[in-house]
Amino acid sequence: PLPSHIIDTVPIAVIGGSGFYSFDALTPVAKLEISTPWGSPSSPITIAKTASGTPIAFLARHGPGHTFSPSTVPYRENIAALKSLGVKIILAFSAVGSLQEEISPGDFVVPTQVIDRTKGIRPSSFFEDGLISHVSFADPFCSDVEEVIDSVRVDGLKIHSKKTLGREVTLICMEGPAFSTRAESNLYRSWGGDAINMSCLPESKLALEAEISYGMICMATDYDCWRDSEDIVTVDEVTAVMTGNVMNAMKILALLLAKCERGLTKGLGEKRKGQMKFSIATKSD
Ligand code: ADE
Repeated sequence: PLPSHIIDTVPIAVIGGSGFYSFDALTPVAKLEISTPWGSPSSPITIAKTASGTPIAFLARHGPGHTFSPSTVPYRENIAALKSLGVKIILAFSAVGSLQEEISPGDFVVPTQVIDRTKGIRPSSFFEDGLISHVSFADPFCSDVEEVIDSVRVDGLKIHSKKTLGREVTLICMEGPAFSTRAESNLYRSWGGDAINMSCLPESKLALEAEISYGMICMATDYDCWRDSEDIVTVDEVTAVMTGNVMNAMKILALLLAKCERGLTKGLGEKRKGQMKFSIATKSD
């Protein structure tokens, strides 16, 4: 149960990626150590309240000190912990490499599709031990949340989306921890990839299984390695671009939270509710 000074459910959660480890925009009202049937999440969950009183949860995907690699992030624990708070909408942030010239480092990207290049080593479903589910993952992100992200405008900032690019925006999610080879980077471009990261999966799939509306806001930090030999992605580059751009991410987040808060009264966060009952293959007796 939540401490009594917090209302009983937290409708919106923010997951911070590399370079985004705490949530300074709002004053925290609680820090929760949550345990789930799968174990503990990557970090304590900070609860803050917006000016109009809506509780918001913040979770650092890689842990407060970046101790979880994309392959070892406790994704099920994270999503289960957020679900236990009553979260309906997740706004997930992630640093990405750009696979397209027009997406420059410092720009933001709203993916609508994902190609799974993780290697099957991450537990990627809540369903196991004889309870089998085959949920449709045709839309890996909630289109209602995508639309809200798509409507955000910040002066001087480029936010690439389905609307601005005029096509699906495809994110490649790779295993890592090493970045891609040039051949892989070019292969992903030939597949129509727009951006690449290491941590959208299984996070977005688990959010779907938990019937949570999940959207991702990506920040391009580099051009991966497809462009030319001087331009090879390094962690320093990723961190420097992220650090220089955290203020912009905060601006986007403030606008997004206000829009999501208003959206809650009009059914935002309800789209996936009840969907899982159509995915269970196991017969009940
Ligand atoms: N995250 C940030 N840049 C990346 C890249 N080039 N490849 C994979 N993940 C990334």
